[in-house]
Amino acid sequence: MQQPTTSFKGISPRIGNNVYIADSVRLVGEVEVGDDSSIWHMVAARGDVNYIKIGARSNIQDGTILHVTRKSAGNPDGNPLIIGDDVTVGHKCMLHGCTLGNRILVGMGAIVMDGAIVEDDVFIGAGTLVPPNKRLESGYLYVGNPMIQKRPLKEAEMAFLKQSAINYVELKDDYLAEGA
Ligand SMILES: CC(C)(COP(=O)(O)OP(=O)(O)OC[C@H]1O[C@@H](n2cnc3c(N)ncnc32)[C@H](O)[C@@H]1OP(=O)(O)O)[C@@H](O)C(=O)NCCC(=O)NCCS
Repeated sequence: MQQPTTSFKGISPRIGNNVYIADSVRLVGEVEVGDDSSIWHMVAARGDVNYIKIGARSNIQDGTILHVTRKSAGNPDGNPLIIGDDVTVGHKCMLHGCTLGNRILVGMGAIVMDGAIVEDDVFIGAGTLVPPNKRLESGYLYVGNPMIQKRPLKEAEMAFLKQSAINYVELKDDYLAEGA
């Protein structure tokens, strides 16, 4: 089977324990994937001009693109991409040089731009555009293009943020057991 990782400038992706990576994924360079996370078909994560870090028990669903911003005079650290623990990133999202905390759901087709910071326990609706350098406050639903803070999360939605991650940990365990 084709390896889903590529080394760049001598740095290879680092993969934790019990991680599922679909065979059509491409992880390049400085990419770290935490224990029990899963990376689904056609995800591209390019850690070339900065690094990408994905925490534990997070899932990056099919067709999502992850990239970063290079260091420059006006932005000495550039923008790495940091994704916390128990995060669900839906199908066909674009996460670019942003920071996501823990227990976040990024709805299908959402775009999160450079320098944006998403605090813990946030729900980003499908198709939402998060402009550069915005901060999304813990406990809220954000939707729209450009995004608005729609409303506080309901109790069931707060619980679902964690449950969604658990569902995907179980699903990837099934895939690992099948040797898929
Ligand atoms: C945002 C979301 C949670 C809304 O759920 P909901 O319970 O219907 O929300 P509410 O009833 O409180 O609000 C609905 C309002 O937001 C609007 N709305 C719902 N989803 C929206 C979205 N993604 N973008 C913009 N507006 C949205 C509705 O039209 C409605 O507008 P109105 O108040 O003017 O009538 C849901 O639609 C969504 O986007 N889920 C993401 C699912 C996903 O992508 N999962 C990951 C892959 S498995």
